[in-house]
Amino acid sequence: MKILVTGGAGYIGSHTCVVLLQQGHEVVIVDNLCNSKPAAVERIRELGGKDVKFYKEDVCNETALGEIFRREQPGAVIHFAGLKAVGESVEKPLEYYANNVGSTLTLLKVMGETGVKNIVFSSSATVYGDVEDPPLREDAALPNHANCPYGTTKLMIEQILKDYAHAHSDFNAVLLRYFNPVGAHESGRIGEDPSGIPNNLSPYIVQVVVGKRDKLHIFGNDYPTPDGTCIRDYIHVVDLAEGHAAALKLFEKGNCGLRVYNLGTGRGHSVMEVVKAFSEAAGQDIPYVIEGRRAGDLPESYADCQKAKDELGWEAKKTLQDMCADALRWQRQNPDGYGD
Ligand code: NAD
Ligand code: WQD
Repeated sequence: MKILVTGGAGYIGSHTCVVLLQQGHEVVIVDNLCNSKPAAVERIRELGGKDVKFYKEDVCNETALGEIFRREQPGAVIHFAGLKAVGESVEKPLEYYANNVGSTLTLLKVMGETGVKNIVFSSSATVYGDVEDPPLREDAALPNHANCPYGTTKLMIEQILKDYAHAHSDFNAVLLRYFNPVGAHESGRIGEDPSGIPNNLSPYIVQVVVGKRDKLHIFGNDYPTPDGTCIRDYIHVVDLAEGHAAALKLFEKGNCGLRVYNLGTGRGHSVMEVVKAFSEAAGQDIPYVIEGRRAGDLPESYADCQKAKDELGWEAKKTLQDMCADALRWQRQNPDGYGD
């Protein structure tokens, strides 16, 4: 199938494009490179062993997007494009609503006009908020808003897709709620390339390992967990990428309507366990200091992944050790990410 991938030059998008190419799909990327580099597209081509078409374009640009859709006529869309920094979304809520919700509205309009009926959307475990205790199931009650504007954009987009699917019985949407994606392609050629100081745990730790940061700041060790640090469901980005390929198979089978799946491992690891695993993978201590809690962090979050296993035939295979080894290989081979 020809898949149009918005945000395909980004962290999760690039790994997914490689998996799609390897599975025989044709890939067209639309990315404005606001948080990624053109080198990522080159490396997707290298690892996928095939060409991909790349449009440097903003998904909010309706005219340009319409032209791309009319020219390419994709069979399905995977919509990764979006801004994702939790703290920045608190500072700049309008940018987040305009970009994340706006791009989705434009995309759906153009899909409707050009007869494209299949979309996979990048949602997030953040939509669960703190309403229910883990393991989190897809049918859990969702809050009205998340703990930050970024998370609320995901809740809003999920609702828009549900309403649109309700109005169009031939429209198919698969909402994938990612837990905590980490790791990199095992080649070390593509990986996570955050700009500035990393917000997330794994990219921060690997920068400590290569000497770009002095020490890790652990946000709180007084949570009600066995070692006092927060627990998350870390999932290898290549497992996550394969989850998208599995979701696309639903479209090949016919009309699937709107479906929601968690993509996680179903297993939680504490911050201290992650630090230990990275330290073992790196063969060196990871210096750290305990700080106060970070606003908005939940003590514990992990998925119930049974639905994806039953209906997509997908489950995560890689271990925390794989995630650490692959993230480190990427960082060591590319200490400055993709460069300028
Ligand atoms: P990323 O920033 O690496 O990739 C997003 C890509 O989208 C970037 O290449 C960026 O340039 C592009 N983009 C952003 N706005 C655009 C626009 N208007 N038009 C065209 N391109 C645009 O992020 P990622 O980690 O790969 O995340 C991909 C998706 O998954 C995002 O929607 C994110 O919210 C979601 N998600 C990520 C995580 C995570 O922890 N990484 C967890 C849950 C959900
Ligand atoms: C994990 C744990 C931190 C950095 C975020 C988004 C979520 C989703 C995934 C997009 C927490 C601790 C972190 C550091 C630390 N993204 N930590 N020191 O917060 O679970 O999820 O990314 O949808 O929406 O909120 O991930 O990697 O930031 O944090 O101690 O320097 O590591 O407190 O307990 P989080 P994270």
